[in-house]
Amino acid sequence: MERTFVAIKPDGVKRNLIGKVIKKFEQKGYKIVGLKMMNVSSELASKHYEEHEGKPFYPALINFITSGPIVALAIEGVNVIQGVRHLVGSTQGDQADVGSIRADFSPFSTMNIIHASDSEESANRELNLYFKDEEICNNYKTMFDLIYEEHLAKLAQ
Ligand code: PPS
Repeated sequence: MERTFVAIKPDGVKRNLIGKVIKKFEQKGYKIVGLKMMNVSSELASKHYEEHEGKPFYPALINFITSGPIVALAIEGVNVIQGVRHLVGSTQGDQADVGSIRADFSPFSTMNIIHASDSEESANRELNLYFKDEEICNNYKTMFDLIYEEHLAKLAQ
């Protein structure tokens, strides 16, 4: 099963949006397999966003992600990387698809509530940066797991 990394950024935490954001992923049928509130050090921030070093917005990005606690999430599901990106919406909140998290909660790109991995490679890299193996808890089944397994079993008949 595919996994992705999500961070609820300091603006999302400070605006009391943690529950509302997580609800979007749970109601979609995705499984939360890692969850913690943490402060992001400058070192971790620069590793996370190393591909953007040198871009005009880089200092603002680092400054913002280190400005308060984030909630780090590891999320599992079928095609979860693409699916979560869809739920998150495009970078600019004022252009994000209606119904997406950024459309609902973010008026502009500097404070856009949430980060989500954009590819399998980024997801693996970011999950390894933010979570130790023992912090991942996928030893339980959600209702969706059971429904999905039943669906696959029927298809195989
Ligand atoms: S790029 O160049 O197209 O890859 O950049 P983009 O995907 O649009 O943005 C990369 C991340 O930088 C954040 N961003 C900003 N943060 C603070 N201030 C400004 N002005 C700004 N512009 C872009 C953007 O939200 C992306 O962060 P994540 O956490 O990946 O969403």
